Amino acid sequence: PSSKAVAADARAVLLEDPGFGRLFTDHMVTIRYTEGQGWHSHSVGPREPFQLDPACAVLHYAQEIFEGMKAYRLADGSVAMFRPEENARRFAESAERMAMPAIPEDMFLEAVEQLVKIDADWIPSGEGSLYLRPFLFASEAFLGVRPSNEYIFCVIASPAGAYFKGGKKAVTLWVSEHYTRAARGGTGAAKCGGNYAASLVAQKEAIKHGCDQVVFLDAAENKWVEELGGMNVFFVMDDGSIVTPPLTGTILPGITRNSIISLARAKGHEVREEPYSFAQWRADAASGKLREAFACGTAAVVTAIGTVKSTDGDFTVGNGDGGLVTESLRAELTGIQRGSVADPAGWVRT
Ligand code: COI
Repeated sequence: PSSKAVAADARAVLLEDPGFGRLFTDHMVTIRYTEGQGWHSHSVGPREPFQLDPACAVLHYAQEIFEGMKAYRLADGSVAMFRPEENARRFAESAERMAMPAIPEDMFLEAVEQLVKIDADWIPSGEGSLYLRPFLFASEAFLGVRPSNEYIFCVIASPAGAYFKGGKKAVTLWVSEHYTRAARGGTGAAKCGGNYAASLVAQKEAIKHGCDQVVFLDAAENKWVEELGGMNVFFVMDDGSIVTPPLTGTILPGITRNSIISLARAKGHEVREEPYSFAQWRADAASGKLREAFACGTAAVVTAIGTVKSTDGDFTVGNGDGGLVTESLRAELTGIQRGSVADPAGWVRT
């Protein structure tokens, strides 16, 4: 067999169980930015390490943003992306918050599409997808604390299956008492690496307690549920209404979150974006008012929440394994993404 055929066989084996974030495709797209010159040196080439000066600004002051989005293989063999324009827009908003240049949205989309095209053989069929990771970082060698004059934009791709090792099984959460994620006026609504760096110690605590994800409460009162380590959160009540924390600037404005709100409303659920306290969560789980809770995000898709642990004891939501509302929203969302359910809002880009 030719070496290309051998590589294809090896790839097919890898794609059977890609996990999350550990496999990478063959190529990357890069575009550089220099103050005064703008965006330049657009290249599509082999995936390879960067050469960075040890004074490279991102290594010191973390001026960096990223996105997470997916490309899907549809039943007819074609390829689709889900609301990529929303990622382009959020990327520009994150850039603004981090004093970085906003890459024009069409340039962002073109770069992502180029990578999907050249690495299309890496898109898993079936339930998997190709996770795309566009990112932008400060590349100037300079130690003064000011916005960098040079940046590198890059897109890499990673074949992905389920984010959690338990697959679609309900996740267990740990409520962080000591650590918060974001304060008013901070960077909570920006998708910057620093937010995730700050979450790691709390996430480590969650793992230590046998949990999959950490729950962050608000920084001001340590009372209101904000989001999980890397995903938004929804609560389904016994009257069919759904609650999710509002976008007050301290939580990530998830594109999956936004899509779920629309889908749930279209199915007739009342959806309230309103503060929900941890105490209320516990009380509603105990009384049975709260029937289901789920996490959502590009990586997590829609994942039921089972048990919630904290220093004040544990409780379980509903039967501990999701429920019909979580399941139907997940099915509808993934069906739209994969072309098996109608897409009235035009979310899918082929
Ligand atoms: C995503 O869902 O795409 C995320 O960015 C969450 C996490 C993997 C960082």
